[in-house]
Amino acid sequence: MTLSLRPLHPVFAAEASGIDLRRPLGPAEIDAVVAAMDRHAVLLFRNQPMSEDQQVAFATQFGPLNPGLKQIGRQHERMSQHALIDISNLGSDGKPLARDAKKIVSGLANQLWHSDSSFQAPAVSYSMLSAVRLPSWGGETEFADLRAAWDALPQRLKDRVRGLQAEHFALHSRMTLLGDTDYTAEQQAALPPVVWPLARVHPGSGRTALFAGIHARRILGMGVAEGKMLLLDLLEHATDKAWRWRHEWQPGDLLIWDNRCTLHRGRAYDLDEPRELRRTTNDEVPRAA
Ligand code: OGA
Ligand code: MN
Repeated sequence: MTLSLRPLHPVFAAEASGIDLRRPLGPAEIDAVVAAMDRHAVLLFRNQPMSEDQQVAFATQFGPLNPGLKQIGRQHERMSQHALIDISNLGSDGKPLARDAKKIVSGLANQLWHSDSSFQAPAVSYSMLSAVRLPSWGGETEFADLRAAWDALPQRLKDRVRGLQAEHFALHSRMTLLGDTDYTAEQQAALPPVVWPLARVHPGSGRTALFAGIHARRILGMGVAEGKMLLLDLLEHATDKAWRWRHEWQPGDLLIWDNRCTLHRGRAYDLDEPRELRRTTNDEVPRAA
């Protein structure tokens, strides 16, 4: 079977069809998905509802799975496998949680532009998100292409940004929403910050990506305020409408995105209605030369 691609946006993102993701892929199929990802950065597969086990089996073909913030401990788990990340507003009874639940705050933090797990090293590559239950309005997911953002950056800013490093911290998005006080020193120390260049080469395409996002909290060697303003300006540019695409979910959709060259965010929805998606995220696997 061959992978067919239909662009969804002039710059990036494509709808992919022609292969069934719920059975093991052949090497040629894996290569085709990787090549499509290198080109389009976001792929949408429609009508492929997956069990939890099927999603883990599919995702594992692209590298080891990364549990993300589960590394700093979680209350309860709704998911059958540790590698699956529960992107829902639901408690273990399957009903929407109270608005002050930690998990609801995490879901709200996902509505800030970010690259999954950019607060850890080594890097992650793909995230795969499958839709199970959706609210009656809102809850879309938006993406921005950081390679297009880099290409369009004025030369003056390219010169300024090249060589700069940003510090990414796991709890920065949560602390942006809640303030510093909600996390103990121990929780803050559990996942120490990591540093990524602001201009980062995307291995699959060889193109430079403007690696911004909410996990970036400061720029090394720059005053706090000046660094924050530059990060905010770069984030605004990185998420310009010209290289931004919005996905309206249907149950059974699977989206794959490359965290090394895109940002994403969820959009608001009625928190009293169930919204249930499941994510896996792959550790980056170095490519054979
Ligand atoms: C994620 C994420 C946004 C959304 O799953 O990593 O950020 O729309 N999701 O739920
Ligand atoms: Mn995310």
